[in-house]
Amino acid sequence: MEWYVEAGVDILLEDTPVDRFSEQPPAPRIKTPSMQVNSPQEHLAKRAENKPRPVPTKAQAVMPDGAAIEMSKNLALKANTLEELKQAMASFEGCNLKRTAKSLVFADGNPQAKLMLIGEAPGRDEDLHGLPFVGRAGQLLDKMLAAIDLNRENTYITNVIPWRPPGNRTPTPQETEICRPFIERHIELVNPDYVLMVGGSSAKTLMKTTDGIMKLRGKWTELRIKSLTVKALPTLHPAYLLRQPTHKRLAWQDLLSLKQHLNSA
Ligand code: URA
Repeated sequence: MEWYVEAGVDILLEDTPVDRFSEQPPAPRIKTPSMQVNSPQEHLAKRAENKPRPVPTKAQAVMPDGAAIEMSKNLALKANTLEELKQAMASFEGCNLKRTAKSLVFADGNPQAKLMLIGEAPGRDEDLHGLPFVGRAGQLLDKMLAAIDLNRENTYITNVIPWRPPGNRTPTPQETEICRPFIERHIELVNPDYVLMVGGSSAKTLMKTTDGIMKLRGKWTELRIKSLTVKALPTLHPAYLLRQPTHKRLAWQDLLSLKQHLNSA
């Protein structure tokens, strides 16, 4: 079971287990004259004729990416408060990630805080609880924040993507672009003094760059969203630090720089 959970399989399809090893192999298919076709084109045409038309399943996207981006832009623009933005995102049907996720993970913490922290996307624990950064990486993040006197009362925490990608895979560029208007509006509405971009995916999306996090981390930049300009710092993701603890030293340098800025604001 642990092996399956690690591999991202976290739902059961049947109530009782099925022993696939005890099943009989399927009988060999005997070619009938109607199945004998001459060219690959004929073969495909034949298959298309016989195949029932696929019925869209719940897991398939319902609108083309371009239309979905237009819709998320319009919805985000109309939201004038965080509650309205949350409702707009909850009503949005243009991102296929929503179809497999259990929750909309909107945010946690204090929207009045000077610091807004933005991660990549919810994982399994975040999806279950509907809150960002509550799993193992979240626990390390809390410790990192505590080291510079920050916590969920004086920080606001969210993600670029509000729905868990299945199996915790990296969100696709299309999914990211569909969700971009929401996170940009989210930043505008919170209007923080500083943004901490947690991990490469968050930094690349918000900074619109393809540079890697090792190049970006620790260097202050400015995010320009419509008329808003906000100082932002990219840093290493706690999930990465759990795998590469020797790099905690670099994250600590970033945190000290953040602390200095917050104290001078
Ligand atoms: N990783 C993220 O980037 N965000 C979360 O909320 C949890 C893990």
